[in-house]
Amino acid sequence: MPGQSFGQFLPVHEIRSAITIYFNGQATPACAGETVIAAVLRSHGYLGFSEFDGAPRAGFCLMGACQDCSLWLPNGRRIRACMTAVEPGMTVASRPPLGHEQ
Ligand code: FES
Repeated sequence: MPGQSFGQFLPVHEIRSAITIYFNGQATPACAGETVIAAVLRSHGYLGFSEFDGAPRAGFCLMGACQDCSLWLPNGRRIRACMTAVEPGMTVASRPPLGHEQ
């Protein structure tokens, strides 16, 4: 929210139609119609961590080409956070759920 964000994205207007999604188990405010990456980066500042050096990842292209924004749904399906719109109550995670590790 304006004035309270410590993420990488900042809203340029008041957030309307507020909903809640869950990122790594944490309630995360989102705005109906925005992408998952916008909501997650605004509140958390990262999507996951590099498998090489553990550095935080935050997506790269923001247009569906690099897949650096991959997140997992509870059913084990991967989504590209920059190409997926938030839905009320949506749950996403940086790591695959148990039983869906790759
Ligand atoms: S940030 Fe590149 S595919 Fe989403």
